Amino acid sequence: MCGIVGYVGKRDCADVLVAALSKLEYRGYDSAGIAVFVNNTIQTAKSQGRLEDLSKKMEQEGKPEGHVGIGHTRWATHGKPSDINSHPHRGGENVTIVHNGIIENYKQLKEMLIAEGRSFVSETDTEVVAQLLDYNYNGNPLETIAKTMAQVIGSFALGILFNDFPNRIYAVRRESPLIVGVGEDESFIASDVPAILKYTRQYYLLEHDEIAMLEEGSITFCNMQFRPIQKKLMTADWDMEAAEKQGYEHYMLKEIHEQPESIKRTVMPRIENGMPNLSECGITPESLRAFRNIYIVACGTAMHAGMVGKYVIEKLARVPVIVDIASEFRYRSPLIGESDLIIIISQSGETADSLAAMRLASERGAKTLAIVNAKGSSIAREADMLIYTHAGPEIAVASTKAYMVQISVMYLFAFELAYAKGKIDEAECRRLTALLLETPDRIAALLEQKEELKAMSEALVSAESLLYIGRGLDYALSMEGSLKLKEISYIHSEAYAAGELKHGTISLIDRDMPVIAVDTQPDLHKKTVSNIEEVKARGAKTLVICGESLIPSKEVADYFFAVPEIDALLMPMLAVVPLQLIAYYVSVMRGNDVDKPRNLAKSVTVE
Ligand code: F6R
Repeated sequence: MCGIVGYVGKRDCADVLVAALSKLEYRGYDSAGIAVFVNNTIQTAKSQGRLEDLSKKMEQEGKPEGHVGIGHTRWATHGKPSDINSHPHRGGENVTIVHNGIIENYKQLKEMLIAEGRSFVSETDTEVVAQLLDYNYNGNPLETIAKTMAQVIGSFALGILFNDFPNRIYAVRRESPLIVGVGEDESFIASDVPAILKYTRQYYLLEHDEIAMLEEGSITFCNMQFRPIQKKLMTADWDMEAAEKQGYEHYMLKEIHEQPESIKRTVMPRIENGMPNLSECGITPESLRAFRNIYIVACGTAMHAGMVGKYVIEKLARVPVIVDIASEFRYRSPLIGESDLIIIISQSGETADSLAAMRLASERGAKTLAIVNAKGSSIAREADMLIYTHAGPEIAVASTKAYMVQISVMYLFAFELAYAKGKIDEAECRRLTALLLETPDRIAALLEQKEELKAMSEALVSAESLLYIGRGLDYALSMEGSLKLKEISYIHSEAYAAGELKHGTISLIDRDMPVIAVDTQPDLHKKTVSNIEEVKARGAKTLVICGESLIPSKEVADYFFAVPEIDALLMPMLAVVPLQLIAYYVSVMRGNDVDKPRNLAKSVTVE
């Protein structure tokens, strides 16, 4: 949610800020702005719309030329997208800030500041912090920041310019992520690593309630009591190329094609002599045997990966698994205690609800296991046990390769748990693990068939609404297929357990409501086919994603795509690919901005 950047160095600051922001647009893209010191005075340029609108505006009106500045790309929370609500925001004469996150007590602070005679130009919570910093300003930036931090409640990160210190940037964070990049004679702040990769791979991770001060030739850190902090320099393990499109029309298509490699990177290091081994992640057979229930808590696509995990873990390890949406879990007083394991799945590792759910479970004494893609993120750092997925940077807002590695970890975990519990023998564990290792090549082969899916997608382009149906693992997959389609095509879509349709929803079916059925599970095949027949009989156009041995007759399916078979349990690893590609092609055909769908942001750091 919102991306912030800052630069101190010798380059043209505006150019660096715009280049860095272009790598953070996945965090929000409804407006953008920069503030740069020009001859010791702060000049801002901001614009509603995409970063390219800001660039155009600067081409026409001139860009602020200088070497120290901050920038922002916004996902609106307080106040609609507009030039006025765009960041950077000024606080009186002394302060200009960019902000990511939420100030929970902004109303009370605003009332206090209004009572003190201040007026506001925007509707944002950000301007309240800017004004509060200015109100508290005593000529000493560190004291001013510390005093202000003691008054604000929420999770946020700030980049701050003080007019009196034209060679410096200050940065502070509470909960929301912020890194400080280190180049040669230059330094950066950014909400995420891709922003700085063009310039450097070295960075520091700013921690909760720490302040960074950047000026040419020096970076210093201190806490709220102004005690200096020595920090560990980190090196990003992927480079700019990994974060570029590399000839693909969209990041989403590139990321779909990166799935085989992402699986290999994630799974192979966790296999030893043909058996899963998660001990490096803090998971041992003894600890696994001790858990009574497993909760998988996550949001969106990550939660859908948890749904696949539920089916697989319950089937193999015979342990009850409760999958919960993080924003529901945290407010429903969950029955969780010391003998339970809570698995948090998150690509970004910063999703506010998932982080809060993990903390709640931890307070109740449960053990926490995080499955996270972003290195050093809050969820990764706070969990008792951690499995990193190695998808690399996922830039497209719609998640594909992150989901793929999340489910591959769910399989590894389920195999190890089932074996530890004595529910499968070594031979079966080896067989399943070997099959998991086959999936990258099988996915690569499937991707060769994408033109077939493109043709099939044409049948959906003009739909206004559609349903995805499936049973068991196919239902879990339908949920992901449906979310993928609706988020980037803007076609209304729901996923339904196929057997549940006739309990109400089937009344929606007519010739204008296509149905995508997922039918990859041989033991449920007959049941699923009857459900497809039911919708077909009511006029629906039917598209079936099926296993190769489950090809439907013409009477059942108007279109079908057959997925080469693997053990039924592992079919989601393959069958999700056509679902991702259908969503992708429909979005392209409808002329949408595939990588940056409206109203969304990649990292949801607000509740
Ligand atoms: C959809 C999508 C979202 C995320 C959700 C959780 O394509 O990407 O539904 O899965 O916002 O995000 P993370 O995984 O970062 O916690």
